[in-house]
Amino acid sequence: MAKLIAGNWKMFKGPVETLAFFDGFEAPDGVDVVLCPPYVSLEAAVGEEWPIYAQNVHWADEGAFTGEISARMLVELGVEGTLVGHSERRLYFGETDETVRLRAEAALAAGLGVIACVGETEAEREAGETEAVLTRQVAVLPRHEALVIAYEPVWAIGTGKTATPDMAQDAHALIKSLHETRVLYGGSVKPENAIELLGRPDVDGALVGGASLDAASFSSLCRIAASLS
Ligand code: PGA
Repeated sequence: MAKLIAGNWKMFKGPVETLAFFDGFEAPDGVDVVLCPPYVSLEAAVGEEWPIYAQNVHWADEGAFTGEISARMLVELGVEGTLVGHSERRLYFGETDETVRLRAEAALAAGLGVIACVGETEAEREAGETEAVLTRQVAVLPRHEALVIAYEPVWAIGTGKTATPDMAQDAHALIKSLHETRVLYGGSVKPENAIELLGRPDVDGALVGGASLDAASFSSLCRIAASLS
């Protein structure tokens, strides 16, 4: 199966920078590509040839939920899926396993693809709780063919620290024993470390933050992934 490389732009790139990125981005056959721009850039991005995902979604169709966006609105825009449960949402915006479950279920019910993020903090890893945390986070995720899990150890996100390929492989094997799905690795993935990480048997792709912002480095990651598929 082709590797899936998803770019999570976080709060970077308005519509103008979004279009500039696509001018410089190319990916070969043999890799599945997804890009997750901020909400305000979704409309610009869906005109391009790649599947576009949002970074979050609310569970209600509509209502008095200031600042939120529904799955139905994303579908109307031509968006094909969404991230849910990113650790930055859990850490800074009070997401819980329960809200992640609600968001994932609503997105799937609306026909969107879902990349659901799980991962332990540094303190949890040091306390030997990685397996328990992942088991708890994965348990709430719906079983659905359009759901992919991203394993992102929180201590490796945006820090330049990467899980060793063995650490990633162990976590992915655990997640796959709990939930039959593709599992992406995320946390400081870049062209320099991609071959080793993506080469492990249970690493089905990557969720990429920093290195997805630059069209040349994201193109290079996609080429590496295609060569390993
Ligand atoms: P990073 O982010 O690649 O910048 O570490 C990954 C993510 O948060 O999805």
